[in-house]
Amino acid sequence: MPKQSQAQDLPRSAIDVPDLETDPCSGTTPPKVSAMRPRSSGEETWPSSADHTTPNGAKTSLGPQAIAASLAECAGIETCEAAGGLGAIARPDVELVIWRRSLPLCLQTWLEQLDATLLPDLRVLVQPKDLVRAMEPFLNECGLPEGEMRALLVCDVGNLVSAFARIARTDLVDVRLERVSGDACRKFHRDFVAARLLTTYRGPATEWVQPRHAETALRAQKSFKGPIEHLGAQDVAIFKGSCAGPGSGIVHRSPPIAGTGRTRLLLCLNTPSAASPEPWPNSYGSDVRYNEH
Ligand SMILES: [Fe+2]
Repeated sequence: MPKQSQAQDLPRSAIDVPDLETDPCSGTTPPKVSAMRPRSSGEETWPSSADHTTPNGAKTSLGPQAIAASLAECAGIETCEAAGGLGAIARPDVELVIWRRSLPLCLQTWLEQLDATLLPDLRVLVQPKDLVRAMEPFLNECGLPEGEMRALLVCDVGNLVSAFARIARTDLVDVRLERVSGDACRKFHRDFVAARLLTTYRGPATEWVQPRHAETALRAQKSFKGPIEHLGAQDVAIFKGSCAGPGSGIVHRSPPIAGTGRTRLLLCLNTPSAASPEPWPNSYGSDVRYNEH
C-alpha cells in the first residue's frame, strides 16, 4: 500500500501555500494572480454599456450590473503568470487556478509531429527528486525518441511535479502522463480528490464550466448548451475536487476527440490514493494500466 499523504483527505485549508517569493520553475519571476475572465464558448455574451466608475475610481466600460455579473462569473477562478501563482488554490474562495503559459515552439512542434504510438502512457508514484530516473525506463519502453526535446518535456514534467508537491504538501506524487485517443472522461464530472493538476501537452485541452453553471452541466450533460470554458493548449490548471469541502469541485470533462484521429498527451498529478501504484522503484514493471479520472 503506498504511503498516504496527509493532504489527501484534508479540507482545503490544509493545502499549503508555497513560498510565493520565488517561482519554483524559473526561480526568478514573482507570481501575479488575478481574477480574470477565462476563454469560453457558448451562448453568453459580455454585456457592454457606457463608461462607469468603479468603487476604486477606475474607469470601465461596464455598468454596475455588468460589473456585478463579471465578478459573479469569475468567482473562485484565478489566473497567474508563473508557477508560483498556482499556490492560490489554497485559498478557501478559490476553486481553480490557471497558469496561462506557452511551451517553447520547438517542443510544441516536436510533440505535434510525433507518431502517436510513440507518445508516453505511464503512471508512477514518485518523489519529485526521483522523477527523471523514474520516467526514463517508461519513455524508452514506449519508444519516445531521445534528445533535446524529450529532455525538455521531462524537465517540464519535473518542474510541475515539484510545484504540485509543495502546494499539496506531499512527499509522493501520483504522476500520470497519458496518451489519450478516445473520449475517456466525456461526461461532465467533479474529481473525487482535494485538488488535481492538469496540463495537456498535445491536442485539445480540458473543458470546464463556471461554478454557477456546474449543476446545470451535470444534469444536462450532452444537452448542456454552455457556456463551456476551455483551457488553453499547455495551460497548467489546479482544480479543486469534491473532497476539498462541501460544494467544492470544478465540473469539467475531456474534450471529445473520438473519431477525429487526434491523440492527446495529458499530464495529471495527484496526491497518493488507494488507486496509486506502489512507490517507485517498486512499481516499475508491474504492467498495470490505469484509467481513473
Ligand atoms: Fe476529471
